[in-house]
Amino acid sequence: MDVELEGLSENDAYALFSQIIIPRPIAWVLSDNGEEHGAERWNLGPFSYFNGITSDPPMVMFSIGDGMAGKIKDTHRNLKNNPECVISLACVDQAKDMQNSAEDLPAGQSEVSKFNIALSDWNWSIPRVTAAPVSMGCVARQFTRVGNTEQILVFAEITRLWVRDDVGALDAKGQVRIDVEAFDPLARVGKGAYARLSEIFRV
Ligand SMILES: Cc1cc2nc3c(=O)[nH]c(=O)nc-3n(C[C@H](O)[C@H](O)[C@H](O)COP(=O)(O)O)c2cc1C
Repeated sequence: MDVELEGLSENDAYALFSQIIIPRPIAWVLSDNGEEHGAERWNLGPFSYFNGITSDPPMVMFSIGDGMAGKIKDTHRNLKNNPECVISLACVDQAKDMQNSAEDLPAGQSEVSKFNIALSDWNWSIPRVTAAPVSMGCVARQFTRVGNTEQILVFAEITRLWVRDDVGALDAKGQVRIDVEAFDPLARVGKGAYARLSEIFRV
């Protein structure tokens, strides 16, 4: 089938390519609403237009669709005020919390407090999602608008890394080895559709 792309709306293109460019990892981004919000301080949201892009320094990119939302998303606004954030990688067991955290709450309200998602303090200014097997302390370094609508690419440097003990271990060379089965990362394969990595093989 030769799919006609001419004239495809932004929404239809999103619906199409979010099923084709798969499986996608999900950046579960915890950002700072500001101290004045007290218990509502931490904003959490998932972003699956996301990947690692450089190794020196280690950086990731995720893409915020302000145009599709018709407003600046909280994560974008927060990172402009305080570029420090935590990007967690959820495991399959956290699918419900992750999906819930995509709710569009009014600015300054926290998905963390609404859905009772536990956070832990660690060696970084922003807490991490306690149950996530991997969390990265990141600094948003660059915001680049692309395309015909308000689509913002966020380039973030990874400056801290936390890996749950059963997921990461040092090998004989002193390098970190990740146990993919213990990690059990959640992958996105379409709108509301997720997958688990069921078989690991080497080529
Ligand atoms: C699994 C998943 C992946 C998502 N990926 C993106 C994405 O890549 N870009 C985006 O703008 N929104 C994405 N969304 C929607 C945002 O999570 C949603 O707009 C959220 O309200 C944004 O949070 P914020 O306003 O607190 O920043 C995704 C939602 C889900 C459930």
